[in-house]
Amino acid sequence: MIPRLLVALGLAFLPSGILAGSAQKPNIELPNSAAANKAAVVDIFTKSYEGYRKFAFGHDSLLPLSESFTDDRNGWGASIVDGMSTMAIMGLDDFLEEAVEFSSKIDFSESKTASTVSVFETTIRYLGGLLSAYELTGKKHQALIDRARELGDKLAFAFSRNNVIPFSFLDFSSDRPSIGNSNIAEAGTLALEWETLSKYTGNRTYADLAIKALAHIAELVCFGAPLPKLAAQGIDPRTGAFVGGYVSWGGGSDSYFEYLIKHARLSNTNDNLFVDSWLTAIDSSIKTLLRTSTVGNHVYLADFDSNRRIRHVGSHLACFDGGNWILGGRLLDNQTIVDIGLQLTDACWNTYAGTQTGIGPEGFAFISDDGDFTGGSSPTQAQLDFYKQHGFYITSGAYILRPEVLESNFYAFRATGDQKYLDRAAAAVKSFNEHLATQNGFAGLNNVNNAAGGLRDHTESFWFAEVLKYLYLTFDDPEHIHLDKYVFNTEAHPFEAPAFATTSGKVVPPKPGFVVQSPDAPLPLISPHPMLPSTSRTGQ
Ligand SMILES: *[C@@H]1O[C@H](CO)[C@@H](O)[C@H](O)[C@H]1NC(C)=O
Ligand SMILES: *[C@@H]1O[C@H](CO)[C@@H](O)[C@H](O)[C@H]1NC(C)=O
Repeated sequence: MIPRLLVALGLAFLPSGILAGSAQKPNIELPNSAAANKAAVVDIFTKSYEGYRKFAFGHDSLLPLSESFTDDRNGWGASIVDGMSTMAIMGLDDFLEEAVEFSSKIDFSESKTASTVSVFETTIRYLGGLLSAYELTGKKHQALIDRARELGDKLAFAFSRNNVIPFSFLDFSSDRPSIGNSNIAEAGTLALEWETLSKYTGNRTYADLAIKALAHIAELVCFGAPLPKLAAQGIDPRTGAFVGGYVSWGGGSDSYFEYLIKHARLSNTNDNLFVDSWLTAIDSSIKTLLRTSTVGNHVYLADFDSNRRIRHVGSHLACFDGGNWILGGRLLDNQTIVDIGLQLTDACWNTYAGTQTGIGPEGFAFISDDGDFTGGSSPTQAQLDFYKQHGFYITSGAYILRPEVLESNFYAFRATGDQKYLDRAAAAVKSFNEHLATQNGFAGLNNVNNAAGGLRDHTESFWFAEVLKYLYLTFDDPEHIHLDKYVFNTEAHPFEAPAFATTSGKVVPPKPGFVVQSPDAPLPLISPHPMLPSTSRTGQ
């Protein structure tokens, strides 16, 4: 570990902030139309979940076209556990009661499939789902905590070789990790769930392990990163060192950035490392990655590759960035960051607005003043024509029921109260009903720009956990799951957040209270490394 004094010195000339701003605009008014849209979202959830119950109950995911199921999350019933917090929020009591009953009896001691267990996916979906459901149902179902503890005790073997950075995959029958490289998203996205587990079990070990991993990445950044203050995507649990020099806000890196600020908020920690690391990453991203498209002035965060070239790419996964900048900017009372977050959110919405179905693609790209390099081939004539019309072009046309664009839209609405975000959410509900509905629930699309291109036979559990929850809450009373009272994990499971505390530990009410200590100073760059393939924020 790097001594904390050195880390403090490494951050000393950079902005430093305390969290004390309110995440939500007060007294947001909803138009009358919100109630009907909210009901439409509940209807989509109900139809999707009825399909799951009929053809897949107890398994992980529904295959709505083949009227069957798949066990793609170790067979413990991922859609049930992932769906519970949404059922609680929507007041779907019959589904909820059945789901709590089922979840109370899951045997997490072994995987029900031949697959190893992903520490990241299992944490965000199962652990997050159990703990959030426990809170949202009045903390009376102790069995949910008992199961979470059993699962946490297994997942803790990811740290069993004296490693600070967890291994990504575990064999639950031998409790051995698969030895191999990880990435900062997988290693840095455990803190919210593991510290909530510690809170309800009284065992600090889970929180300590997860927070140390997050802190380790933040500390590494101070002493050598591909770009100033921006972590490389790859990391090796055996050595704790970065692997390669790829920098991105997309899959494989994304939720590490997300959890820096959310961990600080949820834990009320006195340790400035997390807020300062988030803030310096934002500041550096503005200087190094932020680009504007030559058509339409759409704002996006480019990737930076191992050959030190800017790649003008975007992705559905990376579209959480707008919401995260809005949240962090508001908590720190920094309007510059909020405004860029709103622009990022607009640009991501544009990828929905510009397609034939009104639904956004998995991968896309832009052209900016410094070119159109994406790391792949140059845009085709058809892509160029599309770009000239829409200010982005599609590189991967599928929609697999991902949430990020509507997640950022939700934060934008709660932060501004601007009705245009309600209109966008309503347009998405309409497009989903028009293009994704099947007899047995909802399916993804092969090509968002070709309504006749066919459906994808898989209802991901994050459709229940994330997409429909963020949509519902956009139309719901803004006091419900207020952003000053809850912090969402990366799978959209809300956790109860404490009142604000200053770094001296004194509790203060939410207010504008961000202090800049000094402007930042540039740090030397280190040499590039081979690129690591990008993985996903919420799985594939
Ligand atoms: C706390 O959790 C760790 C990690 O699973 C475990 O090794 C330890 O035995 C637990 N401590 C207690 C007192 O249960
Ligand atoms: C807000 O954040 C930006 C970007 O990091 C930074 O340049 C600026 O100094 C901050 N402003 C205030 C008032 O803290």
